[in-house]
Amino acid sequence: MKKIILLLIGLTLSSQSYAQAVDYRAKAKKLVSQMTLEEKASLCSGETAWSTKAITRLGIPSIFMTDGPHGLRKAEGFDFTNSVPSTCFPTASALASSWNPALAQKMGEALGIESQANDVQILLGPGVNMKRSPLGGRNFEYFSEDPVLAGKIAIGFINGVQSQGVGTSMKHFAANSQEAERMSNSSNVDERTLNEIYFPAFEMAVKEAQPWTVMCSYNKLNGTYASENSYLLNQMLKGKWGLQGFVVSDWGAVNERALGVGAGLHLEMPASGGFNDKKIVEAVKKGTLAEARLDEIVTDLLAITLKAKDSHKKGIVVDKIKHNELARQVSGECIVLLKNDNAILPLQSALKKIAIVGDFAKNPRYQGAGSSQVRPTQIVNALNELQKMAKGTQFSFSTGYNTAGETDDAKIAEAIQNAKNSELVIVFAGLPDSYESEGFDRNNMDLPAGHNKLISEVAKVNKNIVVVLMNGAAVSMPWKNDVAAIVEAYLGGQAGGGAIADVLTGRVNPSGKLSETFPARLEDTPTAMDFPSKDGNANYGEGIFIGYRYYDKKKIEPNFPFGYGLSYTSFSYSDIKANTTAAKDSDAITISVKVKNTGKIAGKEVVQLYVHEQESEVSRPENELKHFEKVALLAGEEKTVTFQLTSRDFAYFNSKSHDWAIKSGKFDILIGSSSRNLPLKQTITIESTKAAKIVLTRESLFKEFKKSPNSQAIYEQLVQSFTGANKKPETEDEKKAASFLEAMLADMPINKFLLLSGGKFTEENLDGILKAVNQN
Ligand code: BGC
Repeated sequence: MKKIILLLIGLTLSSQSYAQAVDYRAKAKKLVSQMTLEEKASLCSGETAWSTKAITRLGIPSIFMTDGPHGLRKAEGFDFTNSVPSTCFPTASALASSWNPALAQKMGEALGIESQANDVQILLGPGVNMKRSPLGGRNFEYFSEDPVLAGKIAIGFINGVQSQGVGTSMKHFAANSQEAERMSNSSNVDERTLNEIYFPAFEMAVKEAQPWTVMCSYNKLNGTYASENSYLLNQMLKGKWGLQGFVVSDWGAVNERALGVGAGLHLEMPASGGFNDKKIVEAVKKGTLAEARLDEIVTDLLAITLKAKDSHKKGIVVDKIKHNELARQVSGECIVLLKNDNAILPLQSALKKIAIVGDFAKNPRYQGAGSSQVRPTQIVNALNELQKMAKGTQFSFSTGYNTAGETDDAKIAEAIQNAKNSELVIVFAGLPDSYESEGFDRNNMDLPAGHNKLISEVAKVNKNIVVVLMNGAAVSMPWKNDVAAIVEAYLGGQAGGGAIADVLTGRVNPSGKLSETFPARLEDTPTAMDFPSKDGNANYGEGIFIGYRYYDKKKIEPNFPFGYGLSYTSFSYSDIKANTTAAKDSDAITISVKVKNTGKIAGKEVVQLYVHEQESEVSRPENELKHFEKVALLAGEEKTVTFQLTSRDFAYFNSKSHDWAIKSGKFDILIGSSSRNLPLKQTITIESTKAAKIVLTRESLFKEFKKSPNSQAIYEQLVQSFTGANKKPETEDEKKAASFLEAMLADMPINKFLLLSGGKFTEENLDGILKAVNQN
């Protein structure tokens, strides 16, 4: 009967809404109960490089996955020379610079449609790892140095893809921030840093968007491979955050397969020829892996497999033109205008002759190398687009450098001549493929010497120099002060050349903001001393202080700060208001602010909200991004932007209570247009409902007894018995001596008192005190 009803529902609903109506978990459970041990184990690894195993006798289908993230790389096996053509959208570092989750969602929808058209059930992305160093080889594939920005963009992307009935695989979980020795090294990260920096983007996206799968990383975390790390997979992903989907290994990330099943790794990819399936069977037979555990893992896996297969839509045809247009729109919103002296941009239509210098103008770098490299449906270059759009201007081209980024005297001489003959020069520069890829990290932040030389030389003969950069991560700019404008176009995808032309000509008003700091020098970066580590251990010694959290704390002036980006119009901020200035962290706290377009053309501004704790009990960043919103404003228009704060916005991760905690006190809410331009401030006094719950132990310090409300009275007695004084200090001298002693005692563990009290303080006393103070 149930079957008939479902069938009827299926006939009347689209495949996707049908899929939503089915209880796949129940179906999966039933199927698992009909399987042999060998069949169950077989499902825990892939059939091929990209597909899972089917079990025909039970009607279990195979599903297909492919990279990802900014396009589809569907290919046979590992030969990618022939992958299907697909729209190549901007890569992650560009997308995050849009600060526009709704746009990420639109792009995700298009990727979902392309996946459906190619019978792909899971798209392997997005990559949400934090950028610990600008040198990370895959930074172009990751969103940000800030978890809130990365998390919100990821949510948009995932919702977009999954709205089309295609799953995502959020990757690479966790602390996978370097390419060197990526398959074996251990990222050694303390618990607070994981929770405040490296987890939240994953956490937010799991809680708010439920990616169908999460991909565990190659590396070890604190000595244990991510693929068999129960803390990561069972405890955090599944337990604390509630992931409903399955965990897939990065390709080849499995170490001990049976341990992985116990730890929460559902699927091993790619196929391992049955080798690891046998290990699972053996472990169950030996009793080192409970069959019930294997059942849970296979149930999770099957629930998604069945849903994914049912969500497939037949007959989808991609509108390549439409998707190319969308790629151009997305790319235009990602471009960050870093410098624009004397409003040299947008290009004036009166300009008669413009020199275009640099091979990237004709042969753009538009995506990164490695597993994410897709075969575009077409490629648009900036030179052609400019010629089409600015008909009254003559553009003369000089190549400037070769594909490796090298230049020579003849190329420089030609570019100089071209620059001399022109009213304005646009130099296209950036990082060639060989500089930036999955699989290795960069050695420095420099552009190729040929690119730097080209910019410096043309800047000597023409003051109107605009530099357009195509690169996936922060670069240094030795010529920064010698040029009039800098346009950071990132790796803008196949239509990126058109988007650059849109911004240069003013068809699009730039609204991108940096999703990562552009430091002035490599020596200034938080990991300058040891990145990438190459001795098997990547020690995240800088802790929570990466990106702007580090530069702000150290008062280091970057080339361009996190959140920064110019527009062709201007904005003003005013009227910050809070619904309360004293509240419990659990109360609804609302902050509103007015933002106005004070220029002459329409534009978009990213309103950014940061929180600063005035007096913290642990070392905290100066300011941390908690909320943002991109607003479109016509010339002269003003809008009110409202943010709802949550208790998490004030919290830090307490490594003693192993939980989020808030200290009562004053917090400044800062609002503005970048991490270094926050003109508005509203202070709120927060009464904490989440004080750290610390269990006092024999080794707890005197000052901890003083702080804990339960033990303050005991603390007084302890101090008095230590000094032998039986009354409160009265005279100035007594008070001075008492406060001196208190300062001396503050950092002494209480058990030392056993040794130093001359026998007055006993083990029984100590046990009694601990029992009393830890009662609640
Ligand atoms: C990469 C993943 C990718 C996978 C499949 C791995 O080497 O780290 O990001 O999804 O290969 O191509």
